[in-house]
Amino acid sequence: MLVELADKNVADIAADYEIIFIVNKDLGHRFVTDLADFELHSYKGDKLLNLPSKRKVYVGIKELTPNSIRLASALAFNAIKELNITSVKIASYSGDCTKISFQAIAEGFLLANYKFDRYKSEKKDIKIEKIIISTEDYNSKKIAIDEAQIGLDHARIISEATNFVRDIVNETPEIYTPQKMVQDAKDFCLGSANIECVVHDEHYLKSQNMNAFLAVNRASVHPPRLIHLKYTPKNSIKRIVFVGKGLTYDSGGLSLKPADYMVTMKSDKSGAAAAMGIIKAAAKMELPFEIHAVLGVTENMIGGNAYKPDDVLVTRSGITVEVKNTDAEGRLVLADCLDWAQSQLKPELLIDMATLTGACVVGLGEYTSGVMGNSYELQSEFKDFASKSGEYLTILEFNDHLRELIKSDIADISNISSSRYGGAITAGIFLDKFIKDEYKDKWLHLDIAGPAYVGKAWGCNPTGASGAGVRACLYYLQKLARNYEKGEK
Ligand code: BES
Ligand code: ZN
Ligand code: ZN
Repeated sequence: MLVELADKNVADIAADYEIIFIVNKDLGHRFVTDLADFELHSYKGDKLLNLPSKRKVYVGIKELTPNSIRLASALAFNAIKELNITSVKIASYSGDCTKISFQAIAEGFLLANYKFDRYKSEKKDIKIEKIIISTEDYNSKKIAIDEAQIGLDHARIISEATNFVRDIVNETPEIYTPQKMVQDAKDFCLGSANIECVVHDEHYLKSQNMNAFLAVNRASVHPPRLIHLKYTPKNSIKRIVFVGKGLTYDSGGLSLKPADYMVTMKSDKSGAAAAMGIIKAAAKMELPFEIHAVLGVTENMIGGNAYKPDDVLVTRSGITVEVKNTDAEGRLVLADCLDWAQSQLKPELLIDMATLTGACVVGLGEYTSGVMGNSYELQSEFKDFASKSGEYLTILEFNDHLRELIKSDIADISNISSSRYGGAITAGIFLDKFIKDEYKDKWLHLDIAGPAYVGKAWGCNPTGASGAGVRACLYYLQKLARNYEKGEK
């Protein structure tokens, strides 16, 4: 589906349907021409009013922020996507920044236009082929066309990356093995001249003493892979490394998950998939950063050779870990990958993304990711910039009392906390043990367990994989790039 600009007044654009946003309940709005008195009476200017007979859909918007614009376009799209129409038009609605407003409006359409129907015999095709945005503002002003076009281009790149990630995460565990992720990584590198891909196998992991990663993999019939992607821009102003948890399936291992908790665990590869999506989009946007994605990819299964509660693992860093629960496997894979990333890549910014804990979902709900780290400045800058993407983020602070809880009697640390409370933060603190002093303030941990997989559609997200982390990180990177351009840093 295309989202394109037309340098015409809305009335002069030919289309099958029209979307109209009612900003701040302003029913005197000049596009509100077709509402009969009774319709106006029932429609207070908020929410959604679809009038198929008039081929118009109205959506209330409180204020012209990127988030409300994006949500309104997704809401409108969802209301009309099953109609027998091929083209839709809309005036432009631009808030403080034309570029970001256009990025948001187009993202709403493009992200809502996603479905995973690979396994449906009967597919419901969406017939809408294009959405045309007029250069005429809803207040009759002309908008800055160049800015708007950049916004649309970025929206297309970000939405394609998000939908690429959704496809990976939604794919079944039978099909989506570590080998399949390798194939996907290699395939997309082939199509991008400035991205390289190196894949490390189990022998390499052994040579690197990545014993925690290997232990998690041991009972799987699929060997593990460490995938390393690198995007090199023309001029780099910063080296940024993303590390992703890529559990293509998490059964819990010998500390087996109860049946109903195991369902959806194909989504435990969301962090790795998001890292792939980010590097893909960053390269297309030609962001001025050297970006690496380090993906720790394996299954967590059961079997006679499975790693066990009571085992002690010697990680790559030399830190020993007592295994008390094999279902706390993501932190073991990440411990080795984070250590590898620091020593091999010397990041100036290090961000890991993982569906790490159920505790984060319990604490924050299914819509919000947890942001952790040691630098409050970095965490709040990330939250501020990334929130413009519409992803919800909350900072979870470490403290010394929680640090006590992962002590072990026989090893340096335990892989689970001794308390039933604070599990998202104690998992973050576990990862922090593997962050070397010089990287402490350059590291962020994103626990995306809540929003990565959507039970009931919300916002721009259909049910299933959401692509959590992709938009948040890309908005953050875009803002960092803009700030550098402005000479602020
Ligand atoms: N992959 C899960 C976390 C998860 C839970 C992701 C729900 C998405 C939705 C992780 O590996 C896990 O099982 N964590 C355990 C840790 C516990 C054993 C300390 C958990 O959260 O229950
Ligand atoms: Zn687990
Ligand atoms: Zn897991």
